Amino acid sequence: MSSLIKTDTEDFTDWWQHTVFYQIYPRSFKDSNGDGIGDLQGITSKLDYIAETGITAIWLSPIFKSPMVDFGYDISDYMQIQPEYGTMKNFDDLVDAAYGLGIRVILDFVPNHTSDQHDWFKKSAAKVSGYEDFYVWHDGKVDKAGKRQPPNNWQSVFYGSAWEWHEGRQQFYLHQFTKEQPDLNFRNPLVVRAMDDIMLYWLNKGVAGFRIDAVNHLFESEKLEDEPLSGKSQDPLSYDYSKHIYTKDLPEVLDMIQHWRRLLDEFSAKNPNGPTRIMMTEAYAGLTQLADYYEDAKGVHGSHLPFNFNFITDVNGDSDARDFVYNVEKWLIYMPRGGHVANWVMGNHDNPRVASRFGPDSVDAMNMLLMTLPGVAVTYNGEELGMEDYRDISWADTVDPPAKNAGELKYKEVSRDPERTPFQWNNEANAGFSTASKTWLPVHPNYTKLNVEAQKAAVKSHYKVYQQLLQLRKSAILRRGRFIIEPLSRFVFAFKRCLEDFDSIVTVINVSDKEQLVNLTEFINNARKLVVEVAGINSIYEPGQPLPASALSLAPHEGLVCKLV
Ligand code: GLC
Repeated sequence: MSSLIKTDTEDFTDWWQHTVFYQIYPRSFKDSNGDGIGDLQGITSKLDYIAETGITAIWLSPIFKSPMVDFGYDISDYMQIQPEYGTMKNFDDLVDAAYGLGIRVILDFVPNHTSDQHDWFKKSAAKVSGYEDFYVWHDGKVDKAGKRQPPNNWQSVFYGSAWEWHEGRQQFYLHQFTKEQPDLNFRNPLVVRAMDDIMLYWLNKGVAGFRIDAVNHLFESEKLEDEPLSGKSQDPLSYDYSKHIYTKDLPEVLDMIQHWRRLLDEFSAKNPNGPTRIMMTEAYAGLTQLADYYEDAKGVHGSHLPFNFNFITDVNGDSDARDFVYNVEKWLIYMPRGGHVANWVMGNHDNPRVASRFGPDSVDAMNMLLMTLPGVAVTYNGEELGMEDYRDISWADTVDPPAKNAGELKYKEVSRDPERTPFQWNNEANAGFSTASKTWLPVHPNYTKLNVEAQKAAVKSHYKVYQQLLQLRKSAILRRGRFIIEPLSRFVFAFKRCLEDFDSIVTVINVSDKEQLVNLTEFINNARKLVVEVAGINSIYEPGQPLPASALSLAPHEGLVCKLV
């Protein structure tokens, strides 16, 4: 084993600052009871796999009681487990087993909205004292024909008006997502307190923190002004029709993030036996906003990890080397100095998979990029295998709410079902995910070849490349090494991690679909020898092989991780 991989004795970083967070979508990970739906015992049964892969932290999409309109993002009881997923005992067992294997557990926290089946909503609709203002209610406007209309032009992210008439209360309520997901009113201190209690409940159960859902949607303008048109869509019911200046990214969002940070810090201080409790925040927002989430201009700390979605939103299979370099640099430039760490999200349950966004040939290179950049890496389950979107799910099998709203002709453009299909464990029925006759979403037909078992057995596989990268990440150089990135040409970029007394690491990636010849001598400072550390499955190069730095040939979409000796 190379000297690079020895344990980093000088490493004083906190546990979450260099971790790979592995996102599990529980409904699709592993079904233990044959009902076609993944569950907690399923996850527990696969913890060995997660540990073997080299993962030390998982974050779970919601597992709480839910009518499952938005597959768990519509919660009807935040302190109970969805029965399809198991029991509280199963949850406790999962946490214990995970901790036993050195894996920390992060839960999804969904504060913006509840399910319309939540007790709070029922009470609010009935104006039960103390609950009247738990949600955002409004009388609406009366039009010329005397008909009651929503108060303004706000749209739901998932299509249509963000207001729904409630017969019982005779008022409209706001929902930024489906109509079964009414928005909580965070201007009401009772709501803030109720949500704090929920966080404390799970912290006391031993979780290491939260991924906070849709955080930039928490507040809306109290004046309820119409939102200006964007010019991007002609359809007044589409979310793209207007600019969401009154419903998203309001300054109050930052106050809430900082409030939750204080709660987590106080909890960590009072319970020093556990790890630092952390938050990761989900917001598709501008760089300056996300930088403020880390730490605002006054120096107040907020989110430990404001998710950086730039690899999902700002580059794709058509991007060139300069786009990638610019994309990486801009995060590092905006991120505040002083103890903050970068983070890179390569995929999630809301967006097409890596193999589908960048092409199946780019899987290894994208994992190399993710794992050798400085800071935290976030992997969506299945990306270690290069799982692909199942784009041919029929309309009849489609379950994702925005896809259903889009209708039979357009559902494929927006559906998130393709990236949520069952995890592919082996080539048995349902890819070894479930023994049911039908799974909640169909299994991708490529499972017969693309699965964990096959990739473990193969001499070379995406999984093995991923494992090697995670092993390499333990090195001092990848934990603490300084970082320099450059485009070497229009199609190839390289970056270097350097630390005194250690061999440097260089990652080089060809993002084009043509073979490229590059000269790395200047980039590596002439003097040193370049040796392969990790190569992709189709590479002609092998680990340990010296490379000609002055004329290095890279296959289409090839990535290489090398060391300088
Ligand atoms: C977040 C989740 C997404 C969900 C939405 C509404 O964006 O990641 O899956 O539909 O919030 O809760």
